[in-house]
Amino acid sequence: MTTKAFLLLLSAAIFLPLNLHADNATKKDITVLITGANRGLGLEMVKQFAADGYKVIGTARKPEKATDLKATGATVIKLDVTSEEDIAAMVKTLKGQKIDILINNAGYFGPRLMTEKPVNITKLTRQEMTTCINVNTLGPIFVTQALLPNLRLSPMKKVVNISTRAASPGGAAYGYRVSKSALNMVTRCMSMDAGMRGMIVIALAPGHNKTDMGTHWANLDPAKSMKQVKALIESLTPKHHGKLWFYDGSPMKW
Ligand SMILES: NC(=O)c1ccc[n+]([C@@H]2O[C@H](COP(=O)([O-])OP(=O)(O)OC[C@H]3O[C@@H](n4cnc5c(N)ncnc54)[C@H](OP(=O)(O)O)[C@@H]3O)[C@@H](O)[C@H]2O)c1
Repeated sequence: MTTKAFLLLLSAAIFLPLNLHADNATKKDITVLITGANRGLGLEMVKQFAADGYKVIGTARKPEKATDLKATGATVIKLDVTSEEDIAAMVKTLKGQKIDILINNAGYFGPRLMTEKPVNITKLTRQEMTTCINVNTLGPIFVTQALLPNLRLSPMKKVVNISTRAASPGGAAYGYRVSKSALNMVTRCMSMDAGMRGMIVIALAPGHNKTDMGTHWANLDPAKSMKQVKALIESLTPKHHGKLWFYDGSPMKW
């Protein structure tokens, strides 16, 4: 055998396993669970992961009304992220099933940003603040806690907390900003938590997208931005761990 042929064989042997990692046979064995998946960015992520051959579980508060989600072929589970009862039922349903990628996407903004003035302190209610914190901060904590046994079954173990640029210093919208800023801190805590050893945990700001939350004023089309989000999630390595990332793969400060 010539030296050139030997080197060719050697490089094929080195790179073959890497290529196998990305092929469709592998993807069908990778389970992605996405919360708040009946509309908006959650639904778009489900569509893209499912279309690419991944096994996808999408959660919705009202599965009976989640027609678009069901049409993707994803498994649908009922989940209000603030409901201990729903979380317990999900744990029971998923017992023993491996989850490779958990995307804590379900989110609540509060009074509309573009159609009403963001709530200022004179209008702020304890109930609005509590709802934001319950959904955006405590939701990801307790959904992740509940799914730890499933994540531990995976060699991949990725947890993605969907955050926002609005969690960084800015204007009003107390509930949304406070709860998402706290989610960034939750991400930080998770990244240093011995109970989550071996996992890659990140916060991800998806950019301003045209959804019910983002409104038509947004500059991004979810079909395009979620393509970048999917690529970022697929490429996560320990260097991403514990940090906040923008949808295009650039690092962010908060
Ligand atoms: N769109 C943007 O420009 C933008 C920018 C930055 C960050 N984000 C973040 O990206 C994520 C998705 O946003 P989006 O634009 O797709 O929002 P969206 O269109 O308002 O959709 C929100 C999703 O969250 C679900 N949800 C709300 N409260 C829930 C609860 N208690 N339990 C379970 N699910 C709940 C909703 O379910 P129902 O249909 O049952 O209400 C819906 O599926 C959110 O975390 C959001 O903060 C969005």
